[in-house]
Order: sequence, then structure tokens, then C-alpha cells
Amino acid sequence: MSFLGAGSPSTLFQQMLCPNCRSPLDFNGQPHFECQTEDCLAHQLRSKAFPVDETGIWHLLPVPLEAIAREAMRRLKTFAPLVTERYSGWIATAESSEVQRLKLVDLLRDMVAAEAMAKRGYYRNVVDWVSANELAQRHERYEELFLDERVRSHIDRSEDVVLVELGCGPGRYLIKYGSRVRSPSRNEPLASFLDALSPKHWEFDDRPVFGFDPTFEKHFRLIVGIDYSPGMLSQAVAHLTQVGLHEEVNNRIQPILAVGQRFAGKWSRDLRDTHKICIIAFQTLGNQSSDTLRVDLLKSAKSLVGPGGEVIVSVNSLAAWGDKDVGARRFYGQVSETVGSITDEEAFRRGVLRTNIGLTSEWFSPKALLAIFARAGMEPTLRTGDRDRVIDGVSLSSLPLFQSGASYVDLPMQERLLKKILIAEARVA
Ligand SMILES: C[S@@+](CC[C@H](N)C(=O)[O-])C[C@H]1O[C@@H](n2cnc3c(N)ncnc32)[C@H](O)[C@@H]1O
Repeated sequence: MSFLGAGSPSTLFQQMLCPNCRSPLDFNGQPHFECQTEDCLAHQLRSKAFPVDETGIWHLLPVPLEAIAREAMRRLKTFAPLVTERYSGWIATAESSEVQRLKLVDLLRDMVAAEAMAKRGYYRNVVDWVSANELAQRHERYEELFLDERVRSHIDRSEDVVLVELGCGPGRYLIKYGSRVRSPSRNEPLASFLDALSPKHWEFDDRPVFGFDPTFEKHFRLIVGIDYSPGMLSQAVAHLTQVGLHEEVNNRIQPILAVGQRFAGKWSRDLRDTHKICIIAFQTLGNQSSDTLRVDLLKSAKSLVGPGGEVIVSVNSLAAWGDKDVGARRFYGQVSETVGSITDEEAFRRGVLRTNIGLTSEWFSPKALLAIFARAGMEPTLRTGDRDRVIDGVSLSSLPLFQSGASYVDLPMQERLLKKILIAEARVA
């Protein structure tokens, strides 16, 4: 599988070098991301022969893509002509069909928007445990609790777990799981980072969002954070460094600069028996600007976890789009410094945000989300976080845990917030 879809090997792939031996990748007529010299992704990730920059980020972005994104970033307003005119030769030879050309243009637009968000305070306004927007924080804490339940259910059974995040941004989960595997007593910066957070921020309904756990230390083998924005990833590494988790970088935490749509491959033998979970968190799926890219991202997730693995996707629910307290106008208005301003009111009325930095954010109905999973060959269960209840598009269930002792937000607000979160969870057959 490739992010340009199946077809004849293109010059794009011929321009990609094997991360291990630096020779051009040979896809033998079947585009595939497996290297000729080493057939496994994880082995490649661990191999120090892999191209790693001075901050410790693995580079898998084909050079032309990175160059175009950087150039487009500088000339945002003329972005579309830039891609079609200046690089038309490259795009045309990369893949002849119009569909694939459009796919590439969409991908580049999304990359440019992500890079812009990284520079426009994404961490500060959307991720930071203290300063981020309140709606973002609540969504994220809820999502973290949900994911934790899933990861814990395996760790508690002494299964070894590998977590892959497609679109890891500035490192929310990398920091969170880093804090699980490294004891603050051995790590002063981590201890002071946790001290600096009030219990409100690092405990959620009495459950720690962060915190060392010896069982995790033993069984949590690897978190791979994949992102195509160099700005987001370098911030992730900077934050990991600030909290004293730098030693885990390229050890148990693997930040990779790459397009999430193009993964396929086998894991190294020592990781084959682990349970794989892939998360596409906090609206990342809705940030892909076409269904084709969404389906490809899910296919990539499916391929990464393999049979028996789990794919978890958390997005915003269309049911909450117009809600005055948790809906789109309020949320995007509050974080406009980061996401930019609305450019297409007509699309906005249909539940799609498009902004002047090129950002797309589409909120999903259960039906639309299920349809995208179906195209990727998965049948997920849609949930609000209570594992025993399923959203069927009509009823919305609540999460008892989420409601217990919640002093930070009143119950009616929680009910509205639950409306905003749609989590799909699929086990790969
Ligand atoms: C909405 S942010 C979420 C960040 C992080 N997952 C979190 O929840 O805190 C989306 C992130 O995914 C990245 N991203 C989106 N689509 C991607 C793709 N197709 N491949 C790689 N990264 C992607 C963006 O660069 C951005 O950092």
C-alpha cells in the first residue's frame, strides 16, 4: 500500500531511498513500503542507520514533499497555483491519474495547514495541560481515559503493548506514556512538571492522566508518533526534553516525520507478539481534506496493527456542530489564533470548517464515520467512552466514570460535551 494508492511504481517512489541502505526503493511493480534490505518497520525504526536529524526525529518524508510543503508554507496565498504550475511535472510523472494528482494536492494543503498550526500556538492553545482551551482539554482528557482503559486492559493481563499514533502533533500521548514508563523519582524534570500541574490537570475523576506505573514500565514496549509536520514533531521532542524524557526518544518513544497514509510493513520479530493499538486522536481523521485520504489513513492504521490489533479514532461529532456551548463556532472561534478564520460559510453550514491557513476540519455523523471505516475494510463500534454502550446515532450514552466527582464541570455541560465526542474502535480481523 502506498499513499498514492496501488498502481504502477511511480517516479515518486523511485525518488525514495531505502532508509537503511540509501539505495532507491524497488517496489517490484507493487508499491510497498517495505525495504529491500530489512523487511520490517520496527527494525528500521531502531536501526541507527536510519536518517535521524539532530533533534532525534526519524525522517521518512520523501524529500520533494518536504520541499514543496516548505515552499508552499512561505507562499500560502499562492499555494494551489504553486503546486500545479511549478511542480506539475513532478506530480504528473509521479502518478498520471487526475485522482492521484488531486490527492497529492489535498495532502500538501493539509501538511501546510498543520505546519502553520504548529507555528500558530497549537501546543499552547490546544494541548498544554494548563493553558489550552477548555473544550479541547475536556475532549482530550476524556479521550485519554478511554485509550487508557484499552491499553490497561492488555497491560494488566501482562501482554506487551505497542502504541502507534498517526498524527501525534506536539506529543500529548508521547509525554503521557513517557511519564508512565519512567519513574519521577529517577527523573527530576518529570517530577517538577507533574508538580506544576494541579490535580485538576493531571488527575481526571481520580484517575491519573500521567504518572509512573511499574506495570507499564514492564509491558509498554513502544510508542511510535508519526506526523508530517516538522514543526509539530520538533515541538514534541522539545517537550519530551523539557520534562526529562529525552532518553526515551528513539528508545521507547519513536517520533517519525512521515505521511501517515503510507505505512505498511512487518514488525521486527521481537515485537511481533505484542498487542498493537493505533490511535488517530483528537479530530486528526477529520483534518484530512478528502475521504480518499481518510480511507488511506485508516488502511495504514489497519496495516500497522495487523490482525488482532485495534484501531481507535476520536473525532468531533456532527451532532454537536451547532451546539452553542461545545459546537464549532464557539470552539474554532476560541482557538482562531491557531486554526485561522473561516473562509467558506457554505461548507461551514454543512459541518466542514475551512480556514485561511488551509485547514479542513469535518465533523462526522456516525453514519459517515462508519462508511469511511467500511471502505478501509473495518467495522468499528462507535462509543462515547462507556465500553458497554454503543451510540446508534439516536441515543447518546454517558460515561459513569466521567460523571463521578466531577467538580470541574457541571453535569449538564458534561452531557453536552459527550455529544461532541465520537470514538470509533475496530479490532482488525
Ligand atoms: C488535530 S492535531 C492532533 C494532535 C495530537 N494527535 C493530539 O491529539 O494532541 C493533528 C495532527 O496530525 C498531524 N497529521 C494530520 N494528518 C496527518 C497525516 N496524514 N500524516 C501525518 N500526520 C498527520 C498534523 O500535522 C497534526 O500534528
